[in-house]
Order: sequence, then structure tokens, then C-alpha cells
Amino acid sequence: MPSIEFEAVGLLSEKWAEVPEGGDLVDVCDQVLAAIPFSCRSASCGTCHIEILEGADLFEPPSEAEADLLDLLDGPPNSRLACQARVKAGPGFIRIRPVNAPLR
Ligand code: FES
Repeated sequence: MPSIEFEAVGLLSEKWAEVPEGGDLVDVCDQVLAAIPFSCRSASCGTCHIEILEGADLFEPPSEAEADLLDLLDGPPNSRLACQARVKAGPGFIRIRPVNAPLR
């Protein structure tokens, strides 16, 4: 059962989620009110660019559309788009922060 930690950002506290069946990360973000910004939700704008600090292998590989935008964004290793990333089912721990969040 993957556990997901969304790091605290600014005044927003950290959030936790359990994702026993895996699924779309955007839905998890919406359910726990994670501090991940969204705009287009369709791999067009890059607003939801995140860094996977732990557990990158617990995600399905990026789609072609996500991979194309990630190439343009030129982010850190293990960066993804929160609106596109899918969590695999199974055990593990995932830790996430927005790429453009201030360092704590
Ligand atoms: S919200 Fe625009 S790329 Fe994810």
C-alpha cells in the first residue's frame, strides 16, 4: 500500500495519503488538498511540476505527452507532472514536493 507524503509548502502543512489501489496522483492531491498547484490538468502548462524525492519507481512511466513537457521544463531528476502521474498499486513510500516550492 503506497503511502504518499506531500511536503509542507509555505504556510500549507504537509499532507499524507494511502493509495492501496494506486491511481491518478491528481485525484489524490484533490482528496487531501495537497500543496500542489494545478492549472490545465492536461500536460500543457507545467504548473503541477513536482519532484519525487522518494519512491519514483512507484509510478507508472510517463506518457509521451508528459515526457515531452518534462523535457521542455528541464527539471530535476525524478520530476513529474502531478496532473499526469499514475501511482502503481503495491507497497512503498512516496515523498513529493512542488519543483518551484521554496526550500525549507
Ligand atoms: S496542470 Fe498543467 S501540466 Fe499539469
